[in-house]
Amino acid sequence: MNTRSKRPNDFRHLTLDSPSTSHQRCREPKLFPKSSNTLSPPAKVLLSSGKCYRPPGRFCLDLPLDTLRTASPVFSYHPMPAIKAQFASIHSLSAGTGAPSLAEIISALSFALDLTEGAVPGHALRCCLLGMRLGNELGFSNESLADLYHALLLKDVGCSSNAARMCQIIGGGDDRAVKSGVKLEDWTRPHQPSLSSVRLLWNSVLPDGNPFRKFGRIVKIAFTQHDNNREMIQLRCDRGASIVRKIGMSEQTALAVRSLDEHWDGGGYPESEKGEAISPLARVMAVAQHLDVFALERGPAQAMQILHERSGRWFDPQVVKAAESLRRRGALWMQCLPNPTQTAGDSARSVRASVLELAPPQTTRTSPSHIDLICEAFAEVVDAKSHFTFSHSIGVTDVASAIGSTMGHNSERRQLIHRAALLHDLGKLSVPNSILDKPGKLDGEQWVIMREHAALTRSILSRVSQFRELAFVAGAHHERLDGSGYPNKLKAADLPIEARILAVADVYSAITENRPYRAGSSPEQAMEIMKREARSKLDADCVDALAKTALAPSQPSPFLVPPASAHSLSRAYHLPYPIHNSGSSISIVQ
Ligand SMILES: [Fe+2]
Ligand SMILES: [Fe+2]
Repeated sequence: MNTRSKRPNDFRHLTLDSPSTSHQRCREPKLFPKSSNTLSPPAKVLLSSGKCYRPPGRFCLDLPLDTLRTASPVFSYHPMPAIKAQFASIHSLSAGTGAPSLAEIISALSFALDLTEGAVPGHALRCCLLGMRLGNELGFSNESLADLYHALLLKDVGCSSNAARMCQIIGGGDDRAVKSGVKLEDWTRPHQPSLSSVRLLWNSVLPDGNPFRKFGRIVKIAFTQHDNNREMIQLRCDRGASIVRKIGMSEQTALAVRSLDEHWDGGGYPESEKGEAISPLARVMAVAQHLDVFALERGPAQAMQILHERSGRWFDPQVVKAAESLRRRGALWMQCLPNPTQTAGDSARSVRASVLELAPPQTTRTSPSHIDLICEAFAEVVDAKSHFTFSHSIGVTDVASAIGSTMGHNSERRQLIHRAALLHDLGKLSVPNSILDKPGKLDGEQWVIMREHAALTRSILSRVSQFRELAFVAGAHHERLDGSGYPNKLKAADLPIEARILAVADVYSAITENRPYRAGSSPEQAMEIMKREARSKLDADCVDALAKTALAPSQPSPFLVPPASAHSLSRAYHLPYPIHNSGSSISIVQ
């Protein structure tokens, strides 16, 4: 099969499980299959955002969509008939089977955090299994185990806050690739750089720069490493701890998230805490994280070897001993290593089931207000990824809620709209900041990556059975009534009113917000653009309801950040390029 002859739009860039169980590494960002045999079941499809996660036994391909429809996805690709069938029964889904548990919600949302870190999907879940085994082995009390459980699932909840800064430091490369690569390096010894760390920097720094500029930037990074590390980790840890507190977790859980990157010998960040001054939960989490990252990338033997090498330096020797003891008894790695007899999807499901079995008893059911709080917290995680979307999810929620109220929807429907709006761009955590913050037009491949976010939003939220309707509405925010949207080209008959409201709110917010390549438009300009260009794409009743709210004469627009001058915007965001106000050229199918 010659896949190159197909049109680019017929493909999705994927990371697949290799037919071999050996530790293959993907050296190329893209490979094309030589024959269709390569794709035959059990090809286990893992939808990536265009970059290879490079775990052992996986490699990248661009696959024709026909193949995807027969494969078994982790991040599901949903063909049209399936979407339509789900829409037909969507209102029966809304009844649900009671409130989801806290563990169900945060274990599902942890997949979004894996995306931001460039981790192999399921990383937080596997860390939870490993860390809970270590906590038990060390004799933690039930209360500490409960705190540890939540801290392990939420350890990366602050990670989006330093993505833009990371992108800036490396000069526009893929922040996710660097974040995942750095976890394999001993960055405490910059005077002894390994070949792999040099290679990582060379491949990531200034991807479009010439060798001299690349070399210069790498030298600069080496000299400023200490300050950069402290700044990056402090951003992440402070933000993570604050979100953990916001969603009502214990202070011990928050402290553990804040101290994840401290080292036993005081060489870590952000406070350079030493030995037993470091939160005991954080000491366990550091080992669990190390084990998962190294085991999947380099195999369990090397994971254990490096764990021993860093014992007493990075890691608490007692936790290392506990890991060794579990390993000897064969109780450490269960469900945490690639299993060639399982599809990636089955493996993720069984790991999550085991994680849910370990959930502390007090997390059984979550109140509606607590669910709202968690949705708001994750909206902040998404918004923190880019300066230009720092209030986007919250802004879309305000607009969508106002439209829902104006149209007279009842409280149950308004709650659905509110939560779907908060979480609609969850999948954007998979998009590198080099794309999100690009000060120009995206190229074809970048658009493919950007557009995958809507399907990822849906896929992540669908993991909570009571969120299936929420997942559908949130994942459909880029669909358009005339079928020109994405990811499934749904048409008017397929789109419920909640999805139409969300689409209108998203477009309005996008037009009025600042972007790297333009300043935001005024509400009047935005409504003009929407009415002119959206006739066949956006729901007219929703646009009318928005106009009544956004242009109400008695009050200033409740949604708008006023447009600023190009100069002041560039200065505010420390950008090396000007932002131009060119609102009239905005495309409403983004
Ligand atoms: Fe979006
Ligand atoms: Fe959005």
